[in-house]
Amino acid sequence: MSDKRTGLIQWIDFPSLGDDRGSLVALEGNKSVPFDIKRVYYIFGTQPGVARGFHAHKALKQVAVCVIGKCRILLDNGTQKGEVWLDSPTKGLLVEDMVWREMHDFSDDCVLLVLASEHYEESDYIRNYDDFIHQVNQ
Ligand code: TYD
Repeated sequence: MSDKRTGLIQWIDFPSLGDDRGSLVALEGNKSVPFDIKRVYYIFGTQPGVARGFHAHKALKQVAVCVIGKCRILLDNGTQKGEVWLDSPTKGLLVEDMVWREMHDFSDDCVLLVLASEHYEESDYIRNYDDFIHQVNQ
């Protein structure tokens, strides 16, 4: 595993354990993924023109991996904004807490896998951008 973890855009490269049969990627909490994995979810079948996300989390880290297809993700920590394409099953994007995220331009086949450091808790979400900017500047 090699990490490039500086700033807002933090990629994690997952080794592909492929052989002549094909490829395999293994993700382990506190190893390739820098937290205990408490929850896994995946987004697929996203309809054309749909964008998702539009929230930040108060205390939750995530790693997002596009295992099939691609989508564009925008991150914003209140002072910096960045956009990248998630388009590789061997590259994860670490999204820290208090980072606004939006996912756009899902390919028809996109399967976006997300590993999360906490169980689902609606009260951890900040879904209003002005509230996010207010809280991040406190
Ligand atoms: P939501 O967080 O709005 O999706 P996104 O922000 O990624 O576009 O989630 C959609 C619905 O699914 C919402 O009703 C909450 C529910 N949900 C869960 O019950 N558990 C989960 O782990 C997640 C991510 C969402």
